[in-house]
Amino acid sequence: MTVITYIQHDGSERMVDADAGLSLMETALKHDIPGIDADCGGGAICGTCHCFVEVSGELPAPDPQETAMLGLRPDRAENSRLACQIVISAGMSDVTVRLPEFQM
Ligand code: FES
Repeated sequence: MTVITYIQHDGSERMVDADAGLSLMETALKHDIPGIDADCGGGAICGTCHCFVEVSGELPAPDPQETAMLGLRPDRAENSRLACQIVISAGMSDVTVRLPEFQM
């Protein structure tokens, strides 16, 4: 079972069991975890699910649309991702998701 730890900007955190097939964004919404707005519902066109992802192992690289959206973030970091674009797969290692101070 993959465990996702969501860490808010204020340092508070919650750990949840992930369901394979759901994205990091969908998992956050399912568990009422704040900090991800997801205005576009997962279409990679709003950027309001930006987060900083830490995982042991490799994640699929962001596609051009995700890269373009991340480019609009002034707080973009090397591990910035759109939570809607990372889908939990069976056997995936645990993931830490740090939420930004704000979504835009
Ligand atoms: S929910 Fe809109 S970009 Fe992720």
